[in-house]
Amino acid sequence: MRDFVSFFVNGKQVNVSGAAVFKPLTEYLREDMRLVGTKVVCAEGDCGACTIFEGRLDSSQNKIDYKPINACIKYVMQMDGCHVVTVEGVSFEEPLNAVQKAMVDGHGAQCGFCTPGFIMAMSGLCEKALSCKTKIDSQSSKEALTGNLCRCTGYESIISSTCAINTAEYKPVATLYPDKNIVPELKKISGQQVEIKTNKYHTFLPTTVEELASVKEQNKGLRIISGGTDLGVVMNKMEWVPEITACTANLSDARSIIEKDNKLIIGPNVTLAQVEDYLKDKCPEFSKLFELFGSPQIRYAGTLVGNIANASPIADTPPFLFVMDAELELANKSKRRMVPITKFYKGYKDLDLNQDEVIAAVHLPLPAKDETVRLYKVSRRIHLDISSFTAAFRLKINQGKIEQAAVALGGVGPVVIRATEVEKFLTGAPLTRDTFKKAGEIAAANIKPISDVRGSLDFRLRLSENIFQKLFFDLGKKEVCR
Ligand SMILES: Cc1cc2nc3c(=O)[nH]c(=O)nc-3n(C[C@H](O)[C@H](O)[C@H](O)COP(=O)(O)OP(=O)(O)OC[C@H]3O[C@@H](n4cnc5c(N)ncnc54)[C@H](O)[C@@H]3O)c2cc1C
Ligand code: FES
Ligand code: FES
Repeated sequence: MRDFVSFFVNGKQVNVSGAAVFKPLTEYLREDMRLVGTKVVCAEGDCGACTIFEGRLDSSQNKIDYKPINACIKYVMQMDGCHVVTVEGVSFEEPLNAVQKAMVDGHGAQCGFCTPGFIMAMSGLCEKALSCKTKIDSQSSKEALTGNLCRCTGYESIISSTCAINTAEYKPVATLYPDKNIVPELKKISGQQVEIKTNKYHTFLPTTVEELASVKEQNKGLRIISGGTDLGVVMNKMEWVPEITACTANLSDARSIIEKDNKLIIGPNVTLAQVEDYLKDKCPEFSKLFELFGSPQIRYAGTLVGNIANASPIADTPPFLFVMDAELELANKSKRRMVPITKFYKGYKDLDLNQDEVIAAVHLPLPAKDETVRLYKVSRRIHLDISSFTAAFRLKINQGKIEQAAVALGGVGPVVIRATEVEKFLTGAPLTRDTFKKAGEIAAANIKPISDVRGSLDFRLRLSENIFQKLFFDLGKKEVCR
């Protein structure tokens, strides 16, 4: 059992023990390592000033996969077994790398405070463009920089600088830090169990789901930290570190998606970005939803399981999982059981999850060829915002008649719901505007939303009613939305 956290920073291995293990990563980088290029502004994953690369072994275990993430909402204990690359580490071979040159030439920086974060997010885009053999254009630049805020330069010059990056000159991180020098050590590190105790805090890094369940069973009040994009924000804002934690970073076989019989089995460490990529062709409607889910930095760190377990009624993925009749595989130290996601939420943040259990996987059936899926997210602004209201529909339509209907609504009560009254009404009904008008009225009559900062009760009732009309018009569009 190891009693320290071990990871690489810009190619050099660091071992951290004691109180420093429980610091935010930005604090450790800036204060302990004096790598002050990584900035902190919001400390809640919203501005991108703290963007770094997190490199983790990919599923082949022979290669490191580098993704831009927000360091401010990561804690040192979560970094075991990874390679952190900061802005200081992307250009050590030359004064300015291709991304930095483009920013300077395109006048993309004014005060410069946000610039290191932009450089890292832009580098993330270059990594993606090179590995997927795609071009960087204005659209892909805007998407890659959704999570980066600049208060003084103006986005025009930042976007044009991004488009002007000479990708032929860009040196991928794996070229700067060859895998062969780091992979063997990361394999060794991530195969070891870790337990670290100080007089204030206690953390575990188990290597199997069973061990995770076992430490949870033995430690009442233990908080699991996966991507940390929900928990990290709460910890920063409340200046609180849970006394006992377990990080999922080293769980083996937890980052893979297995496809079998038109069903996906999604591991507990599978990120939102992985799901987005995997479903691009298999269920474009769900994949597209992620364009409006946080920012790339959030989607590269946050997991699907974390989105489910956080149990927010306005989380974006549950409505889709509800209409697809997804199931959760729950594990304790010796056995597993399946729970339909529609039965998992017993009340606000109240889960059908025992003290000795953790979520081991999500079983997600894919839509059949003759089914149509439609997903909606309403938020106060389009990008990087939490939903006020969500809706998901799965319909089987045959010769102008609805043969089967599954409808889920979020943001209309303490938990996401299946609108069973509406489903009954829609099943067998003709595909007419009248049907959808009446369906909306039934939906609104069966919910009791609350008023809060994201929307009033009246607004949510109106949305629940009108979304059916929108669905009706969208169904008429040619776009394939399976
Ligand atoms: C800037 C920003 C933007 C965001 N935008 C969106 C958005 O658009 N839509 C949206 O829905 N969410 C959004 N989120 C919330 C968050 O990113 C997601 O909920 C994400 O999926 C959480 O995953 P995680 O791995 O980071 O969870 P964590 O923060 O690690 O954990 C979340 C919860 O899940 C529990 N947990 C984790 N793994 C397990 C397990 N295996 N078994 C049992 N419990 C477990 C943890 O204990 C914790 O209670 C945003 C967050 C931020 C900071
Ligand atoms: S400091 Fe704003 S996202 Fe990290
Ligand atoms: S250059 Fe000043 S905040 Fe972006």
